Amino acid sequence: MKTLIRLTAVSAMLTAGLVLAENAPINSNANEAKEVIKTFSMQLKGELKHALEEGGPLKAIAVCKERAPAIATEVGEKTGWQIGRTTLKPRNVELNTPDAWEQGVLNEFAKRKAAGEDVQTIAFGEVVETDAGKTFRFMKAIPTMELCLACHGTQIAPEVAKAIDENYPKDQARGYSEGDLRGAFSVSKPL
Ligand code: HEC
Repeated sequence: MKTLIRLTAVSAMLTAGLVLAENAPINSNANEAKEVIKTFSMQLKGELKHALEEGGPLKAIAVCKERAPAIATEVGEKTGWQIGRTTLKPRNVELNTPDAWEQGVLNEFAKRKAAGEDVQTIAFGEVVETDAGKTFRFMKAIPTMELCLACHGTQIAPEVAKAIDENYPKDQARGYSEGDLRGAFSVSKPL
């Protein structure tokens, strides 16, 4: 009986060790992904804030439209990660509509938020098989802040709404309140 318990304990320890070893590359890739997202989001938020202060939401639309994809490319080239943003209700339907994997993760994020998890810390990463081989994919939730409401909120100024309509006739990214899940950063790297 004692031997059995000891064997079970040893095998449990071995399994735990294996799981830890298996998760090690995921953890280090996830940490790198978080850093890449931080660099991208801080630069974007900085430029957005600056544009809002200088010219108001009407002028700042251009930052979101041109600088968001441009910063994603810049940081992507520097780091070797593919960087994007996605959401269940996109404004830029062509660029930011989720693929099947992202849609699944976004649905999970919505469930996790509904279960009480803090949007600030909701994230998920895993290794997936693609046509190009093994790829690490990672997503981090984007909360809606007060700063975002001028263009994503429930009461958008008429001239701002008009400019959004002109640029994004299929826009779905309105009606959010502070604290809502706006979408997620989505990054990937071939392994
Ligand atoms: C000045 C208006 C404006 C403000 C303020 C603004 N956004 Fe946006 N947002 C846009 C525009 C325009 C796009 C489309 C960008 C594109 O063409 O890629 C967009 C796109 C996005 C996307 C990509 C998914 C999609 O819907 O296409 C996310 C995520 C997002 N915004 C989050 C935020 C968050 C979070 C804030 C606050 C920190 C914020 N936005 C503030 C105008 C704005």
